[in-house]
Amino acid sequence: MSSAPTPPDDWRTSEVLSAPMEIAWQFDYAIDLDTLKNLYSKAKQRQWNADEALDWDTPIDPSKPIMADDQNQLLRLPLFGKLSKSQQEMLTAHSTCHLLSQFLHGEQGALMTAAAVTHAVPDYEAKLYSASQTMDEARHVEVYERYIHKLAVTYPISPWLKELIDATLQANSFVKTMIGMNMVVEGLALAAFHNMRRSTTCPLLKQLTDLVLQDESRHVAFGHVYLDRVIGEMHPDDREDVAQFAFEALRAMSESMGGYDGKGPRKPDPGFLQMLDTCGIEIADLLASLREAGMEGVEARLPPGHIHSFKDLMMPGLVRVGAVTERTRPLYEAAGIPVFSDTSVLESMEDRETGDLSEAS
Ligand SMILES: [Fe+2]
Ligand SMILES: [Fe+2]
Repeated sequence: MSSAPTPPDDWRTSEVLSAPMEIAWQFDYAIDLDTLKNLYSKAKQRQWNADEALDWDTPIDPSKPIMADDQNQLLRLPLFGKLSKSQQEMLTAHSTCHLLSQFLHGEQGALMTAAAVTHAVPDYEAKLYSASQTMDEARHVEVYERYIHKLAVTYPISPWLKELIDATLQANSFVKTMIGMNMVVEGLALAAFHNMRRSTTCPLLKQLTDLVLQDESRHVAFGHVYLDRVIGEMHPDDREDVAQFAFEALRAMSESMGGYDGKGPRKPDPGFLQMLDTCGIEIADLLASLREAGMEGVEARLPPGHIHSFKDLMMPGLVRVGAVTERTRPLYEAAGIPVFSDTSVLESMEDRETGDLSEAS
């Protein structure tokens, strides 16, 4: 990596958003949702300290694959075999940095949304739980930053992820914020981390991902358990407002990512293009190689045992909590987004007692 030029640093700046969220005091300290109480207890028991739980002295050679090539599709394209050895090493290192950078920035978004939910959620036990999630997310930002620091290059957040998290942070109710984060973003993250844990060849990244995944499974469970109740008790007009938010979040994500299955054109990602440029690869050559390999779609890229976030977790979860209504179903269909409602993968990962999602292997 020493010969590689680093991406420009002008994205490394702070940015201030305004949010319309209300803040709720709660003076009734009675707990009436035992599942949340259990989830909070589990969160307290399973706190971990990255200084002690992980061996940060583990050596990492970023020019060697950190993920098996079934996780990093760029490394199994025909184009990869045509590159020089130094280009291959650079692409291996930089594509890993680009992916892990998205994990890092996404975790910062999760940190802020969990804190926002702690402010806004009206139930006492939900405040306790989301405070524990806030601490979890701080740890996740810390560990990904420390890991990427060892790799030396951080890339900017992809525009589609930034837009999705900004919409989540700037929503006008905690219900929408939880849909955006605990169901959509964390549905993506749970699948990505699960797949990463299966694929990584780095013992530190495997151990780190394992710890993060244990926490994330609780976060997704919080979304399922709590939203199921809150949305179920909503006035129909409010439920439609929430359902519209869920649809718009998924439509925006689908449009940015080339459709739910990733087969269409994607919105430009300056960080990804910078990564290709750094490695001396033309985007036209990459696209031609993707077509040649028949790997345009997410389905084609997913090896057996891998989870499809959209199909297996996110969409069935939204249907189950009532965030997809009879009114919004046709909107999904018109946008080319199938309403998957098979909850079998979701349920196979769930701990019925706490609502927690297990760390499926
Ligand atoms: Fe996280
Ligand atoms: Fe999370």
